Amino acid sequence: MQIRRVAVVGTGYVGLTTGACLATLGHRVVCADTDHQKVERLRRGQVDILEPRLPELVREGLDSGRLAFVRDTRAAVADADVVFLCLPTPMGVGGAADLAAVEAVADQIRDALPRGSVVVNKSTVPVGTAERVAALLDRPDVAVVSNPEFLREGYAVRDFLHPDRIVVGAADRDAARKVADLYTGLDAPLVLTDAAGAELAKYAANFFLAMKLSFANNLATLCEHFGADVDDVLTGIGHDPRIGSAFLKPGPGWGGSCLPKDTHALLTICQESGVDFPLLGATIETNVEHQRRLVERVVAGCTPGDGSLRGVRLAVLGLAFKAGTSDLRDSPALAIARLLKERGAELHAYDPALSETRPDLSDLLTLADTPEEALRGARACLVLTEWPEFRDLDWERVAGLLGSPMVYDFRNLLDPDRLRRAGLTCEGIGRAPAMAR
Ligand code: UDX
Repeated sequence: MQIRRVAVVGTGYVGLTTGACLATLGHRVVCADTDHQKVERLRRGQVDILEPRLPELVREGLDSGRLAFVRDTRAAVADADVVFLCLPTPMGVGGAADLAAVEAVADQIRDALPRGSVVVNKSTVPVGTAERVAALLDRPDVAVVSNPEFLREGYAVRDFLHPDRIVVGAADRDAARKVADLYTGLDAPLVLTDAAGAELAKYAANFFLAMKLSFANNLATLCEHFGADVDDVLTGIGHDPRIGSAFLKPGPGWGGSCLPKDTHALLTICQESGVDFPLLGATIETNVEHQRRLVERVVAGCTPGDGSLRGVRLAVLGLAFKAGTSDLRDSPALAIARLLKERGAELHAYDPALSETRPDLSDLLTLADTPEEALRGARACLVLTEWPEFRDLDWERVAGLLGSPMVYDFRNLLDPDRLRRAGLTCEGIGRAPAMAR
């Protein structure tokens, strides 16, 4: 493998994982970020995000001298063979991805890039962005390559070092090869395509995952209607390798920093290009409807029928968009909390990942320091993030704390038999009330 000099612009979870892992593979990596304090912390080996193995890889990279952090983007790229753009592309006006950060950096680095270097879009960007960056750079000697990431939060290092596939797209195949060669040693199929193919592969992947989850959530409702158990039905179809069992688990709706943003961005791309893709709109709408339906269930279970939750105290266990992270971006738990709040509920929530970060959520709920504090006196308990420790709570004690024995397990995490023995009624998703045991 040829050792390359790599610059990574942006040290979010994608950029930092990319930088640290490429250094682990032997490359010489300089990561740039405009946040001065973050750069200082990273230089000391301090990683702010909750990502297994990442702090170790950062410290190893620093110790080996293969990984460095700087504030000056132009200085970082000045010596690089390959420059990765790992910048935020948040949902902008009308759902389209906001490319302001990518465009600003392209502007900054235009005349700092070495001759013949390659710029790589790692962030999820609309189709045509590689061309747009190339036009902004206006450097015929610099190729722009699309190499999307498929990293899950909480598994970013593992996903980087053990990818299912590596997708690299560019009109200039030599440049694409140069990027693909950075990953030499990783055991994964390489998909070489053009830039539009790589850009679309990323959106298609996240859309497909969201579609599977919307399918599972709709199927759960159908199962409830017929008294079937959704887990049995999903197991019944999941053994078919054409279907598979991964990512087919009902929950409180899909969220996080990628799936909602990317499905909306793809919807905008389809609308703007005049391509009808009805599954996409249906996938998004299903997610919204599913959450409304879950809230109606809580309302129906907690009120005598007037539809209001005014004065009803509810305990929420879990706020992060999934277990293993403190990330609240587009969290289904927060979406459900907002709907409950609109109905007048008084929410007390606990999440193990938020005890230290303590985000200000005071206009929505009261953040408790312990599960007990959230549960005491509540009319019902809702489990909204699949933290394993919720499964192991002392449910007899919880039964004593709750004002009524109702637990809504919207992650199908808990053992309903165990809760029943503790004197609680546990309602999951996709199990008819009779089967809630
Ligand atoms: C996702 C993609 O998986 C990753 O490939 C991409 O690069 C970034 O977006 P991430 O946002 O970290 O990763 O979350 P993921 O683990 O995919 O979960 C997304 C959402 O689906 C979460 O809200 C999660 O709780 C939900 N989910 C996931 C379910 O409801 N059921 C499941 O079986 C799996």
